[in-house]
Amino acid sequence: MQKDFLRILDFNTEELEEFILLAIEIKEKFVKKIFHKPLVDRTLGMIFDNPSTRTRISFEVGMLQLGGHAISLNSNDIQLSRGETIQDTARIISRFLDAIVIRTPSHEVVEILAKHADIPVINGLTERFHPCQILSDIFTIKEKKGYYKGIHIAYIGDGNNVANSWISAALRLKFHLTLACPEGFRPNREVLETAGKYAETEIQVIENPYDAVSDADIIYTDVWVSMGQDSETKKRKEVFSPYQINSNLVEKAKKDVLIMHCLPAHRGEEITSQVMDGKNSIIIDQAENRLHLQKAILEILLTRNEKNKKE
Ligand code: CP
Ligand code: NVA
Repeated sequence: MQKDFLRILDFNTEELEEFILLAIEIKEKFVKKIFHKPLVDRTLGMIFDNPSTRTRISFEVGMLQLGGHAISLNSNDIQLSRGETIQDTARIISRFLDAIVIRTPSHEVVEILAKHADIPVINGLTERFHPCQILSDIFTIKEKKGYYKGIHIAYIGDGNNVANSWISAALRLKFHLTLACPEGFRPNREVLETAGKYAETEIQVIENPYDAVSDADIIYTDVWVSMGQDSETKKRKEVFSPYQINSNLVEKAKKDVLIMHCLPAHRGEEITSQVMDGKNSIIIDQAENRLHLQKAILEILLTRNEKNKKE
């Protein structure tokens, strides 16, 4: 098992399934109000350079529920902001903390932090990947449908960090993924090239959202303007307007299609309120499951990995 949780592709199928199986157990205990505290006296450091509601709150609450605690380390409040290197910061905070979750635009920064830290580093979203989100979403699909192998997911919209992690997950967990993205907004080329090397996987990138949803079990979307892209808002709203998840699009899918969105949503842009609050939407349950799946990530990285075990 890897020390860090940076990308879905860093884990094999069995390891990814181990996270999901533990999340199921953790949620069952949570629902029955049974205490589960394998991380007593452990501390999670949380570095958030970009805003977050779900990731930040669910990691902090998750760590508390596991018996440990979490501290926020805003980059502007620590000496990183005054030129201390990431490498030195990684070495020092490894002496105080047991794990770090970081949300920062540059994936490279997260890789450097992980390389120099002795403790697990968890990617809380970079411009390239959002692995906690997608593994949690697969847990949600298993919970709702009973399985995810062979399922057909239609991702509609921007080929962004969330789309990249969906592609990685389809490679490892063997489901069908159709991404409908406008020309010029397809997922990362390197990620697609990696996908292309695995002939047996069924990952397609097309342009027409109606074609993508016709046979889908899940319709998934994300914002059209990700963090750091605000200057492109006007252009993006124009390009993506045919990719809105609205009742016309949902009517073309199976009757029992499930609607997912990683959130935050911009109602009236990538998704209408009618669909978001409609009977096929599992979006709020999906958000809750971040808590349970991330508790599984914390527990596994901190207790099942020999290097990070403490008696
Ligand atoms: N989906 C997600 O990561 O939400 P936050 O940006 O609120 O953390
Ligand atoms: N693609 C979005 C995801 C937010 C959770 C962003 O990067 O802003």
